[in-house]
Amino acid sequence: MKILVTGGLGYIGSHTVVKLIENKDEVVIVDNLFNSKLVVLDRIESITGVRPTFYQNDVQDAEKLDAIFAKERPEAVIHFAGYKAVGESVAKPLMYYQNNLESTFVLLRCMEKYHCNNIVFSSSATVYGLPDSVPVTEESPVKSATSPYGETKVMIERILSDVAAVHPEMNVALLRYFNPIGAHKSGLLGEDPNGIPNNLLPYINRVACGLLDHLNVFGNDYPTPDGTGVRDYIHVVDLAQGHLLALKKLQSNPGLVIYNLGTGKGTSVLEVIQAYEKATGVKIPYEIKERRPGDVPENYASTDKARRELGFKCQYNVEDACLDGYNFQKAELERNK
Ligand code: NAD
Ligand code: UD1
Repeated sequence: MKILVTGGLGYIGSHTVVKLIENKDEVVIVDNLFNSKLVVLDRIESITGVRPTFYQNDVQDAEKLDAIFAKERPEAVIHFAGYKAVGESVAKPLMYYQNNLESTFVLLRCMEKYHCNNIVFSSSATVYGLPDSVPVTEESPVKSATSPYGETKVMIERILSDVAAVHPEMNVALLRYFNPIGAHKSGLLGEDPNGIPNNLLPYINRVACGLLDHLNVFGNDYPTPDGTGVRDYIHVVDLAQGHLLALKKLQSNPGLVIYNLGTGKGTSVLEVIQAYEKATGVKIPYEIKERRPGDVPENYASTDKARRELGFKCQYNVEDACLDGYNFQKAELERNK
């Protein structure tokens, strides 16, 4: 199948592109390199032996996207492109609403014009807000998000649902990712954010490689077994596989479908530190600090629906992901020397 992947050189996109190529799908990437590097294309090629077609374009550029659709005629789209930094979205709401929403509008208009009827969208567990209970199922209420970033996910889910409702030929998969971590086994693909990382694993990777001297643990007085925040950390390669399964599901013309992609298991910050130390043999010094505003105590997925309807099953655990993430960070430092 020919698949257009927006944001395909980013963290989750690049791992998914590798899986698609390994599955013999034909991939067309549109990415403006806002948060990725062209070298990722070379690395995808060195892992798979195939260099996917690449357009360095902003998805918001309607004329250029139209030309890409006219030429490539994709049968399906995976829409990763968007901004994703929660804190930045609070500081620059317009930038987030503009990019995340407008790129979706332009994409949907092209899909309609060129009769491309299948779309997989990168949503987030953030749409569940502060969950009433865990694990969260796909039926758990979607709540008003605590950041403009999260709000764009809620809004785009709504837009796609409304479009699907009046277009019976449209198939839409909303994939609600929990906490993607880890990297490709090759050490060639992974997550290496600019500046000081906000997310837990990128921060720990920097501590492990001596770039930061300790981790700040945000709160140890939550109502969780050890008092630290509990999340559902899923290896990015397992998450990537979930996209292939979702595309396969769309082939059966299901209309709108929604799936949580997580492991179904909650892990606390202190447990992540232990797993990291066990997997890598590197000590992670940490200090307990105040809670981070906006954090929920506990969030992890019910994965029953994805297992039942997609056959989704994770192959890797948190330790595997810690080791792969560490190896990627070390290799990246070597390459940047
Ligand atoms: P990422 O920033 O690594 O990848 C996004 C890619 O999209 C980047 O390569 C960026 O250059 C590109 N991009 C952004 N705006 C664009 C535009 N207008 N036109 C063309 N390209 C554009 O992020 P990621 O972690 O791979 O996340 C992918 C998607 O998954 C995002 O929509 C994100 O919100 C969502 N998501 C991510 C997480 C996570 O923890 N990483 C969790 C839940 C949901
Ligand atoms: C955050 C976003 C979420 C987004 C996800 C992936 C917030 C409030 N939520 O999720 O919307 O989808 O990233 O990009 O920002 N922690 C520390 N020290 C650190 C960093 C994190 O103790 O230096 C703790 C947090 O308090 C939390 C856990 O680690 O308990 C995970 O944090 P993080 O990796 O930032 O992910 P989320 O907050 O779950």
